[in-house]
Amino acid sequence: MRKFISVDLLDWAPYRTGTPSKIRPMNTSEGLGDRIRVAAFAERQAYYAFTQAAKIFATEVPEELVMAWKRIALEESKHETWLLKRLAELNLDAAEMPVSLGLYNSFINCQSAREFTLYISDSEEKGRIAGVKFAEFLKVTDPVTSKIFTDIADEEVFHISLAKKYF
Ligand SMILES: [Fe+2]
Ligand SMILES: [Fe+2]
Repeated sequence: MRKFISVDLLDWAPYRTGTPSKIRPMNTSEGLGDRIRVAAFAERQAYYAFTQAAKIFATEVPEELVMAWKRIALEESKHETWLLKRLAELNLDAAEMPVSLGLYNSFINCQSAREFTLYISDSEEKGRIAGVKFAEFLKVTDPVTSKIFTDIADEEVFHISLAKKYF
């Protein structure tokens, strides 16, 4: 069976991968940056995961699900673009703090389409809930970032629904 590409062979720029430091308080500009960076990096990891799943598990699942994975990969990439653009607008640096490859490393071990889908949809659901809460927190103080997190959370609903539909 084909495997997920090892982390060393993928491009993670502009991020700095490593052991992340503690996330700074939510009500500071640094803390805002930390949360946007972590969310953006999760989107990059999800982009690689869905792109590869569409190849690795292609023969195991209906063609329709493969097509959905390819579409979702593009959406994850779009989400990442929104978040990186917002970081730049706020004059915050994507590479300022190291980010963890934990999410990607956990996909690597998935042995089946079912395992991958259930695992990733669970991660996406956790991310979606955190995103909704963060959007609520920023609603008044930073409506632009708040809207980005809301729009992402809305699109994640479809990604998460695939697990229920197919497995
Ligand atoms: Fe996403
Ligand atoms: Fe997603």
